[in-house]
Formats: sequence, C-alpha cells, structure tokens
Amino acid sequence: MSDPSLVAGDTSILIFGASGDLTARKLIPALFQLSRQQYLNKRCPVIGVARREKSHEEFRNELKASILGDSPDPDSLTAWEQFAKQLFYRQVDISNPDDYVALNNFTAEHEEQLKTAAGAPRVMYLATAPSLFDDAVRGLHFAGMIPTDRKNSDRLRVVVEKPFGHDLASAEILNEQLISRLQENQIYRIDHYLGKETVQNILMFRFGNTFFEPLLNRNHVDNVQITVAESIGMEGGRGGYYDTSGALRDVLQNHMLQLLCLIGMEPPALFQAREIRDEKMKVLQALRPGAAAVSEWAIRAQYAEGLVSKQPAVAYREEERVPPKSNRETFVAMHVGIDNWRWAGVPFYLRTGKRLPTRVTEIVITLKKPPLNLFSTVECDGELCNIVEARPNQLVLRIQPKESIFLRFSTKRPGMQYQVQPVAMDFDYEDHFTSHLPEAYERLLLDVIRGDSTLFTRSDELLEAWKFVDPVLKSWESGSAGLEFYPAGTWGPTAADRMLSESGRRWREPKLKDLQ
Ligand code: BG6
Repeated sequence: MSDPSLVAGDTSILIFGASGDLTARKLIPALFQLSRQQYLNKRCPVIGVARREKSHEEFRNELKASILGDSPDPDSLTAWEQFAKQLFYRQVDISNPDDYVALNNFTAEHEEQLKTAAGAPRVMYLATAPSLFDDAVRGLHFAGMIPTDRKNSDRLRVVVEKPFGHDLASAEILNEQLISRLQENQIYRIDHYLGKETVQNILMFRFGNTFFEPLLNRNHVDNVQITVAESIGMEGGRGGYYDTSGALRDVLQNHMLQLLCLIGMEPPALFQAREIRDEKMKVLQALRPGAAAVSEWAIRAQYAEGLVSKQPAVAYREEERVPPKSNRETFVAMHVGIDNWRWAGVPFYLRTGKRLPTRVTEIVITLKKPPLNLFSTVECDGELCNIVEARPNQLVLRIQPKESIFLRFSTKRPGMQYQVQPVAMDFDYEDHFTSHLPEAYERLLLDVIRGDSTLFTRSDELLEAWKFVDPVLKSWESGSAGLEFYPAGTWGPTAADRMLSESGRRWREPKLKDLQ
C-alpha cells in the first residue's frame, strides 16, 4: 500500500514508442505496479503513442498478455482490469507536426473522460530512437503543448532514454536541440541505475552513518573497484544495436560513472536535486585518466566462444546481427583517478562486460593494510589452512543480485598460535526487509510524475561524462589501441588483470555460490 505523502497527483502520461520492447517490458509493468499500490490514481490517463494503427483494446490486450502471461491469478486480473480503464492508444507519425495537434485534442478528451484536474502536468516519455527526440519536441512545440512561461513550465516533463548521443559532439547537438525548445527543469534524462534501491542506498549508507565515511579518503583507502558484470550475450537480436554502441557507451559512460559519482562525491548540504547533482558534477570534473597512454588506462576486449554456466556460448562475432569482422568491445576495464583533496592518488578501477561468469554489480572499497605485519595470516578451506599475504579490510556494496553489504576483516584464529584469518560480516537485504524492492522504473516514473528530478542526470553531468570518455572512443576508433579477446564465461582479458597486478593489486572475484 502506498505512502500517502508520495502518492502522485493527477498527471497524464504519454509514452512515445509504445510498440517497443521498453514499453512492454518496463514502462507499463512499472505503471501497473504503481497503480496496484495506489501510487497512481485513476485520474491519470496513460496513452501509448506509436506509428502503427491499433485500437485501445488491441493495445491493452497485447500488454495484458505480455505482463500477466497465460494464467494470471484473480487479484492481478482484477488489478489489471482496473488499470486498463486508464490505458489508451493513439496512432501518431512522430515526424508529422499535424499529428501532434490531434494528439493534443485526444489527450484533452481523455483527461476530461477521467476527470483529470485542469492544468495537471503531462509527462512525455520518449522511449524512441534518439534520432526522433528532436522531431517529437518540434511536434509538441508546433501543437502548443510546451508551456513557455516559467510559472507553468513544470506542467510538461519530457523523459529521454539513453543512448543520449553517440559521442561528445552528438550529445552536444542533441542537448542543443532539446534546450532550444525546453527548459532544463522540463527534461528528465533517465539512467535506470539511479532508480535501483541499492544504488540509492550508497548515499544513505555513506551519509546516514558515521562508521565508514571518515575512512573514505586517500588516507585510508588503497583502491576502489566498480564491477558491472553480465553473463548474457546478444539474446533477442540485440546485436544490431549493441554493435553500434559497445560496452563503453552502453554501460560505462552512464551507469558506471554514476556509481563512481555516488561513491566519490562529497556530502551535499541538502538532500535535494540541485545539491546532489552539483556534488556529482564536481566528481566528474575531477576525473582523470589513470595513466598517460589510453592503452594503459583503458582496456577493450571482445568475447570469443566459451562456456557460461557450463553452457556453450558462441563468440560475439558469431552472434545474430553482428558483423563477422566486428571490432566492437563487449568488455572494458579502466583505471581512473579523482583529482581532489579526498581522493588524489587513489586508483578507481572500473570494469564491465557481457558474457562474464555471472551477473553481478558491486563496489569494493579496499583499505590500506596495517603498517606492520605483527601476525601471519591464514586462509582455510575446511581443515586445510595456508599462510598467505596479509589481507586488507574490504567494504563491499553489492548492488545486485543478492543485494547486500559486507565487511571483510581479520580476526584471531582460535588456537595456540598468533594467526589471523579474514572473516566477513554480512548484511543481506532479503534477510532484513520483507517488503519488495521496487523496480527502478517504478521509482523513476513516480519521481517524474511527482516532479522530483533528484535521480535524473542533468545536462552538464551528461556532457562531462561524454567529455571524459570521448578521447577513448576516438583512440579506439582510430584503431590505435588493440582489441583483446576473452573466452565467454571468464572475467575478461588478461590485460585487465595486468592493469592491477602491475601495482600488486587484483580484482575481487565474487564467489559464484554467494550469488545464487
Ligand atoms: C542497459 C544496457 O542500459 O543496462 C544493457 O543497455 C544492460 O546492455 C543493462 O544489459 C543492465 O542493466 P541491469 O539493470 O540489468 O543491470
């Protein structure tokens, strides 16, 4: 049941690209959940907008089948029937301005039908190819659907999906196009990672406790690792899109740099959109390459055939819709630094890839070792113990799956000797909280409807992130840095391991049994 202080007021929600995969897989399921939990009231029309001709009933039935499956339980069915009453479909040619005049009238009619409050905000969710964003905004402008006076500007909220640009220049052009007709407070650039409960917890954990924050700086931290690993490859014909993007654009430039900002930023003076985004922006401005040559701080690689979860997996170049000679990276590892008083000199290692051994996203903060080894350290497997190098303390924030936080430290091994053994203290979301963790899109859609932009990316952040990765893209595209290969089902190429081992460090490899 909803928290009354967060229930959305009357709002119309128009989804452009309503025939697409995102609408059926994420957006409508999220709105349906919000309606079930009474966050979305019955006076909010949800209008799917796409090119194909379709009746309301066809649209509703398609979505019902994809969301509820063949044999839904009676409660879900009742909830769906209720939600379907506010679900409509409108055929629109996105590049034809005249269609927007008709869309405006159509929206007004359905607002009247549902008794939506006069002057209620309208959300335009652009779940379309970025090449259509400009057409959509022109159309809205042509039909007079963009309030221009400051006082009412918040009555229109335009949500844009990634990819937001292909490189710095195209992101700048896209941004110019949007801001030529919209005000910044009307644009919601979505990064679904920010909607994840455990990503939001990074800030709560850091600034809601006093235990750890005093340690998170150059005096105590040896290095920080951020891993976004996926075991999937190019299922569902995704190779066509992916081959125009690659791991750097698809995940590192957005999701991973956002994680880096949250773990690296200073405490904001207030927990509000502007203050939080200002602090994230400072991290991006202080971001530096970890070495002189691109090939030393940014490694790219592509998967070759291998075994993932003991199942054979084809090479990337053999995937559907991928050109057989593609040089697109499916893995990237980076060594970067944040040049400010808190973090100067601390290496941040980032890695992401497809067809790695498992799906896991985590942030690992490794502290410096004690200055003197007074005790020997042992690691044991059952009764069998080996003397090993001293192990540093580690704080691990696991974002997904099996959302958890754990702390590795050393303790005396029982017995007559003075030996220490690394042990872990765990906090597991599932064990502590019974309530369901809301899906990222539920949270983000509710925030747009409520007009809260805290978890959305501001234009300066986005351009700064592109500015950082642009030289790497240029260098790779000019062919000057080699492409490595790794067998599917492994943690990436040896070059990524070398990047750390040269300084005596290594990647943390999560134990697969902990993730099941
Ligand atoms: C998307 C990328 O933005 O994020 C996908 O386009 C990737 O390639 C996905 O699989 C990962 O998101 P999540 O929520 O599954 O970690």
